[in-house]
Amino acid sequence: MDGLILVTGGAGFIGSHLIDALLLSGSDVRVVDDFSTGKDENLDEAWALAAQGGAGLQVMEGDVRDEVRMRDAMEGCEAVVHLAAVPSVAQSVEDPVGCDSVTHGGTVNAVRQAVEAGIPRFVLASSCAVYGDATQLPIAETAATRPLSPYAAAKLASEEVCADAADAGQLAAVSLRFFNVYGPRQDPGSAYSGVISRFLAAAVAGEPVTIFGDGRQSRDFVYVADVVAAVLAALRRPLSGGSVLNVGTGRGADLLEVLGVVEQLAGGPLQRGMEPARDGEVRHSRADAGRARWVLGWEAQVGLGDGLPRTWEWFAAAAGDDGDGPDGEDVGPGGGAGPAPAEHARG
Ligand code: NAD
Ligand code: UD1
Repeated sequence: MDGLILVTGGAGFIGSHLIDALLLSGSDVRVVDDFSTGKDENLDEAWALAAQGGAGLQVMEGDVRDEVRMRDAMEGCEAVVHLAAVPSVAQSVEDPVGCDSVTHGGTVNAVRQAVEAGIPRFVLASSCAVYGDATQLPIAETAATRPLSPYAAAKLASEEVCADAADAGQLAAVSLRFFNVYGPRQDPGSAYSGVISRFLAAAVAGEPVTIFGDGRQSRDFVYVADVVAAVLAALRRPLSGGSVLNVGTGRGADLLEVLGVVEQLAGGPLQRGMEPARDGEVRHSRADAGRARWVLGWEAQVGLGDGLPRTWEWFAAAAGDDGDGPDGEDVGPGGGAGPAPAEHARG
């Protein structure tokens, strides 16, 4: 697939890595993002790749719920990857209406505009949160869905929107149920941020970490490059109808284990603040990724043993004086590079 791909939420953590990979593989990319949690500097690498001339990048500032904006954004696209959402379980508990409006409402609009534009493929970033507290681990796609939070309910409703369009023969839809994604560029800056980014940022700054609950809750942490590979496969494999696929490693780790590795990387113990468990959360989660292996030929390649040190390096470098990432190309939290080239200015 070398044509134009629309990525909603492309200025975010996962989206920006996806865009880099798409550009590197020769696809042109258009982004729609309202920059609510996305950042300009996440796209620095993408602008640099586009400036090398292989593939083009366009960034449209806008809301995925905006019908006119999304209609314009669909023009000429071969496929849509829909990542824009309110991505935090905890935030959705505090603001259920806002979460549903963006996450579910945004998907209704994105799918509708994609169908009207005749776009043949739609990839949705769904979540393993749709399973709720699974009765059996690992969790296969055949497991019951029991959303425990407004976030999970909005993701499940989004999957339904995709499935309905696929069942009607309007497009091929792939709902990827990401497990807990981590890696460089994950924003640690809010109480809603992913736990690995929070632990690493605290460790780098020499500040205490916060643990909600007893720390024995477990997650299947999947490295962002693996998630990008799954999305690329979902775009490129010959698929029809609707598919729902887990994107996880098949291995689980609890927070105290993760913290142990972070402390090794930091070279010593971190101060721990214990807080009550948060509402709406699952206790344990671990993927059965067999279906993705079968349908996409995809398998996670990076375990926590490799992924955590790589992510640590990036956070440590980003906290350094120059703000450059570990290889000098990537820019971390707060470390913006120069403005985008004029020809790539946001539309
Ligand atoms: P992120 O917050 O970094 O990215 C979300 C992007 O969507 C941001 O750039 C944000 O500005 C944009 N956005 C939000 N509301 C918008 C709106 N109304 N209109 C346009 N753009 C909007 O989060 P992420 O971790 O990169 O998550 C990407 C997707 O993957 C989300 O759908 C999330 O629910 C899903 N997901 C993430 C994880 C994870 O562990 N990070 C796990 C499962 C699923
Ligand atoms: C994360 C994703 C969500 C995704 C889901 C899939 C983020 C922000 N959210 O939600 O988009 O759909 O995975 O499973 O990436 N915790 C602490 N201390 C902290 C932060 C968190 O103890 O400083 C705890 C939380 O209470 C939770 C666990 O760590 O028990 C994981 O939290 P978090 O990283 O927010 O992930 P999920 O809620 O699983």
